[in-house]
Amino acid sequence: MEKEEWDNQTSPVEFLLLGLSNVPKPQVPLFLLSLMIYMVTVFCNIFIVMLVVVDWHLHTPMYVFLGNFSIVEICYTSTILPRLLVSFLTEDITISAQGCMTQFFFFGCFAGTECYLLATMSYDRYLAICQPLLYASLMNWTLCLQLVAGSWLAGLLMSTIVTGLFSKLQFCGPNAIDHFFCDFAPLLELACSDTTVLSLATFIICFLDVVFPFILTLVFYICIIAVILRIPTSMGRQKAFSTCSSHLIVVTVFYGTLIVVYMIPRTASLRQLNKVLSFFYTILTPIVNPLLYSLRNREVKGAFENALRKTVACIESSYWL
Ligand SMILES: *[C@@H]1O[C@H](CO)[C@@H](O)[C@H](O)[C@H]1NC(C)=O
Repeated sequence: MEKEEWDNQTSPVEFLLLGLSNVPKPQVPLFLLSLMIYMVTVFCNIFIVMLVVVDWHLHTPMYVFLGNFSIVEICYTSTILPRLLVSFLTEDITISAQGCMTQFFFFGCFAGTECYLLATMSYDRYLAICQPLLYASLMNWTLCLQLVAGSWLAGLLMSTIVTGLFSKLQFCGPNAIDHFFCDFAPLLELACSDTTVLSLATFIICFLDVVFPFILTLVFYICIIAVILRIPTSMGRQKAFSTCSSHLIVVTVFYGTLIVVYMIPRTASLRQLNKVLSFFYTILTPIVNPLLYSLRNREVKGAFENALRKTVACIESSYWL
């Protein structure tokens, strides 16, 4: 599309998600693979939420955070994957401007909440490992509730501000987004109004949304590891580490992919890599988290076995009735 043709229009009514146009055809195998990933993610996370709600052994701050984290993960993947599935199936790569902004808003909202919940969970582990005697009095239900509510609010607030700023942008040039969802960097490249103020504002908010909780998480984990290394026996060290290892892996996967994606310059040669990695950070953490906790965590395993036993007993009793 020539630039002049667009100049008298304020905004395009729809965008093209070009990230999907060079997907090898036929797209059915990719569709099936993504569908499977999506279903496993949603199923496993709902499962964790149900365990946390139903089993009173898991009614502790650590698992309340985990339950909320699983809810965020479900929402987070649901902003990206279903849209992608439809595109794989129909090979339709257009997205309406409203659809794009909606996706942008919810993605930012859940990503921000996720960062703050990760920081909250590492603070919880920090208190448990570094202040074990004070843990019960410090991490009380009020604080727990405040931290969870604060995380949700932080994500919502910052995404509202960024989306508000973005909705003022004018898009008059080409409307092809070189990505597979409406992320902020590809959208910013398309804007034809002056983006310096917006870029600065977005930068500050992204800092508050992602970098600040990341630094907090990092500091808590440095303290945790320093304390663990000072434990004299290797048994004791292992025991302390086992209570935070699942969470540490999730943190590493999430921020590792995120940092790589946003640090790689969006130059022509690295763009493809960037897109592939974005795919990973949108699907990897939500699926890794429940799997890790259900495979490695003794309490979650115990709750699972309990639930299984009760279900079997229930089915048996209804069979004999
Ligand atoms: C999420 O956090 C709230 C507030 O602490 C808590 O009441 C709720 O049970 C949590 N949800 C899950 C699924 O754990």
